[in-house]
Amino acid sequence: MHSPSPAPGGLLLDAAAIRARVLEVAAGIDLHYAGAVSPLVLLCVLKGALIFTADLARALRVPVEIDCITVRSYGQGTSSSGAVQLVAAPTTPLEGRDVLIVEDIVDSGHTVAFLHAHLAAEGAGSTRLVTLLDKASRRERVVQVDWSCFHVPDCFVVGYGLDHGERYRNLPDVRVLDTS
Ligand code: IMP
Ligand code: MG
Repeated sequence: MHSPSPAPGGLLLDAAAIRARVLEVAAGIDLHYAGAVSPLVLLCVLKGALIFTADLARALRVPVEIDCITVRSYGQGTSSSGAVQLVAAPTTPLEGRDVLIVEDIVDSGHTVAFLHAHLAAEGAGSTRLVTLLDKASRRERVVQVDWSCFHVPDCFVVGYGLDHGERYRNLPDVRVLDTS
């Protein structure tokens, strides 16, 4: 039995707008990595970036490999405490590789700060970040966002990979969670 969950409310980004913007951002990433000597490693931050990674990977023309990383940030409700922990590391050796972190949303910035430190420790040759959504008004850490598809206001959003209590990841568009 699932506990009652707030319903996804207002539409923020529809599937067509997301598709168009993913193609546009992919073209910019292609330009940046054109001529790279080894395939770009797309590092999907599970689980939220699953669907974005799948669409982005198929829009890119540069050679890529795909791996995943799982991190957990301890927090209450809908915000991060800042304590981020590695749950599952990628299996690809990342030393010397060009790595593109693929995130669903950059909120406080704690997750991205942790990922940058982790990849530096692994000896990645370069680390850049693409995010589907950027909630810049909530930033607590200064982090570099190299490519962002959409800026979103300070509200909790679900769909296209993003969840609330593990629900709504499969919605094709991004909606504001209606907590009223
Ligand atoms: P951080 O606060 O930047 O460390 O973000 C941590 C993680 O919280 C993100 O990668 C998301 O998985 C999750 N998150 C932050 N804001 C939202 C939201 O509005 N909806 C769903 N997940 C979110
Ligand atoms: Mg995430």
